[in-house]
Amino acid sequence: MSHQQHDNTWRLLQDHLDEWVNLSKAHTSEGHVASYIPELANASPDILGICIMDSEGNTKVSGDSDFPFTLQSISKVFTLILALMDNGEEIVFSKVGMEPTGDDFNSMLKLELVEPGIPFNPLINAGAIAISSLIKGNTTDEQIDRILHFFQHIADNPSLSINQHVFRSESDTAHRNRSLAYFLKDNGVLDGEVDDVLRVYFSHCSVEVTCTDLARMALVLAHNGVDPIRKRRLIPRRFVQIAKTFMFTCGMYNASGEFAMNVGLPAKSGVSGSILTMVPGQYGIGLVGPALNRKGNSTAGVHLLGILSQEFDWSLF
Ligand code: DON
Repeated sequence: MSHQQHDNTWRLLQDHLDEWVNLSKAHTSEGHVASYIPELANASPDILGICIMDSEGNTKVSGDSDFPFTLQSISKVFTLILALMDNGEEIVFSKVGMEPTGDDFNSMLKLELVEPGIPFNPLINAGAIAISSLIKGNTTDEQIDRILHFFQHIADNPSLSINQHVFRSESDTAHRNRSLAYFLKDNGVLDGEVDDVLRVYFSHCSVEVTCTDLARMALVLAHNGVDPIRKRRLIPRRFVQIAKTFMFTCGMYNASGEFAMNVGLPAKSGVSGSILTMVPGQYGIGLVGPALNRKGNSTAGVHLLGILSQEFDWSLF
């Protein structure tokens, strides 16, 4: 992208981002805040905030961009990358597949329906639980520590931490994830004890961030694993390529096709209402809007990304 293009984008964002956020905010009323993790139900449904970061770390923020939230499923992108860095492709893809499911993110349907009984991809809950078991560490605490440090490293923010209320709230109520994990254990997909693997999984879902942290993490992916601000490689290019491909095909779950059509960027959503996305080679983007649609994606967030993609012709196609 030329400097002039960047300057134009930045000026248009300066002039219109608040207006676009307000337009999209109206769509919060179409969704509902997740309540199956009781602690998440405390978020107010009309929140919408966004941060867009350029390669020098300049930001454009709008709306409730200071609102803290937990990564939830967005964490799965980064645990996948860490599992690849720890084990390599061959081992990782002996435990999870590479295909979208068309089913809900917490579905167990295909685990029994299709042989071999490994999760279809690493971004659905079953797949991410399998990935959690692949993170290296002598103890469960060490696995969790390594994940947290890796997230802090990518986000360039040593103060990222686990929200213990959200962790406990999920851990106390995660009957479906528990059943998924036992199913995986029976299918020979999980190495460790079910309770230990789930503690790793709930911990990385409960790491608390802001839109700025998300945008910062996305920026590293936008630059294929090189941090353009610290000017060094944090992730091997191939593993970012794998992660972004999954984000494109499965990142918005069974709404990934529709999102690809309307926005056309690799993205990952979380049930906290968060979305991490990027304009390859250019911007990292983080947003939060806790009111979700039926598929578990932020109603207002998806709307806002549709506007931005159209305004700036950001679709990859
Ligand atoms: O396992 C769960 O259900 C949550 N910790 C994460 C799910 C999630 O974020 C799905 N995303 N839309």
